[in-house]
Amino acid sequence: MKLWNKGFEPDKNIEQFTVGRDRELDLRLARYDVQGSMAHISMLESIGLLTKDELDTLLPALQQIAEEIERGEFTIEEGVEDVHSQVEFMLTGRLGDVGKKIHSGRSRNDQVLVDLKLFFRDELKEIAASVKQLFDRLIELSDKHKDRLMPGYTHLQVAMPSSFGLWFGAYAESLTDDVQMLTAAYNIANQNPLGSAAGYGSSFPLDREMTTGLLGFEWPHYNVVAAQMSRGKTEKAVAAAIAAVASTLGHLAMDVCLWMCNNFAFVSFPDELTTGSSIMPHKKNPDVFEIMRGKCNRLQAIQNEVALLTANLPLGYNRDLQLLKDILFPATSELKECLDMATYMLGEIRIKDNILDDPRYDYIFTVEDVNRLVLQGMPFRDAYRKIGMDVQEGKYNPNREVHHTHLGSLGNLANDRIKEKMDTILKHFG
Ligand code: ARG
Repeated sequence: MKLWNKGFEPDKNIEQFTVGRDRELDLRLARYDVQGSMAHISMLESIGLLTKDELDTLLPALQQIAEEIERGEFTIEEGVEDVHSQVEFMLTGRLGDVGKKIHSGRSRNDQVLVDLKLFFRDELKEIAASVKQLFDRLIELSDKHKDRLMPGYTHLQVAMPSSFGLWFGAYAESLTDDVQMLTAAYNIANQNPLGSAAGYGSSFPLDREMTTGLLGFEWPHYNVVAAQMSRGKTEKAVAAAIAAVASTLGHLAMDVCLWMCNNFAFVSFPDELTTGSSIMPHKKNPDVFEIMRGKCNRLQAIQNEVALLTANLPLGYNRDLQLLKDILFPATSELKECLDMATYMLGEIRIKDNILDDPRYDYIFTVEDVNRLVLQGMPFRDAYRKIGMDVQEGKYNPNREVHHTHLGSLGNLANDRIKEKMDTILKHFG
C-alpha cells in the first residue's frame, strides 16, 4: 500500500529498486519522524486545521508509537515504502479517518528533511561526546607520560627528542579543531525545514516559527526552496566534520601501528588486545589499529561520495537524495565505534622506558649540542658546522646530559590550556 495510492500498485521490481535500503535505514529516523509529526499537528491545531479533540486523539497515539519505537517493537512492513508511510498507516489503522488529517500542509520531502536534521543533531552530539572521551584519555596519558622521551622524526628520519607527553597531547589538541567542524555541522543541521512541504511551501497559513520552537531549532529555513536545498548540503557539512575527526584518528592509528612494529617497539598492548597469525606462532598484531586506520580512510571518502551524488542535481527534490542515507547512516555509527575503540585501547597502552638510550638515536642530540655551544658564546653557524663535521668524521659523541636540558621545554605541555580550549569550543556546541 502506498500513501500515493490512486488505484494502481507499482510493479514489484520497481518498488524494490526505488525503496532500496529505506525500510532498514529509516528505522533510525522513526523517533524523529514521530517527534516532527507531533510538532506539525500541534501547529495545525493552532491554525485551525485540526480541532482540539482531534489533536487530543492524535498526540497520545503518536506518543504510543514513540514508546513502541523505544522498545524496539517498531518495524516498517513489507509493501510500505518508508518510515513516513508506516507511521501514517499505523495512525489511520488505530484511529481511523483522523489519522489521515496529519499530512495537511506537509510533504514527505520536508518530513524526511526534518527527520534528518533532528537525527544529525543527535548523531553529532554523540560523536562530540565520544571525541571528548578520547580527548580526556589523551590528556590523561600526556600528563602521565610527560617525562618519557621518544624520538621525533622528520622525513621519517631521526630528528630531535620528543616525548609521549607531546605525542598524546598533540592528538588531544588536534581534536579541538575537529570539534569546531562538528559544531559547524551542528549549526547547519539545526534549522527547521518543516513547512517547506514539497519544496515550494503551502497555501495554508503554517506557523513555521511555532514548529521551530517546538523542535528546538535555532532558526527556520525561511526560504522554502533553500529548505529543500539543504538536503545534501547538510550532509556535506556532516561528512566534512566526520572526515575531520576520521583524519585525526586515522593518523593516530597509523602512529600506533608504526610504534608497535618490532623495529620500533615503543608501545605495546596486553596480549588479549592483540591478534595472532594462523601460521606464525610468535605474532601479536595491531589489527585493531589497522581496521581503525582503514575505516578512518574510508570515512574521509564519503565527502566525495556526497559531492558526486549531489553534483548538478536540478533544483528541488530528486529521488537521488534518498541515497544520501546509505552513505551517511553507516558512517556516523562507524566513526563512534572507532572513537570508542581508540579510547578503550589507549587505556591499556604500555610504553617502553629509556628509548633514547639506544645508540641508534645518538644523533638526536646534535641540535642540543649546537645550542650548548651557542650558549657558551659560539655563533650558531660555527657551532652548527663544528657538530656537523664531528658527525661527518664519526667523532660525534652525544652529550646525554642534555636529555634533561631538553626535557625542560618538552615538559611544558600546556595541557591545562588545551583543556580550557576544548571546554570553550564545546560550550558553543549544541
Ligand atoms: N524515502 C524518501 C527519501 O528519503 C522520502 C521522500 C520521498 N519523496 C518523494 N517525493 N518520493 O528521499
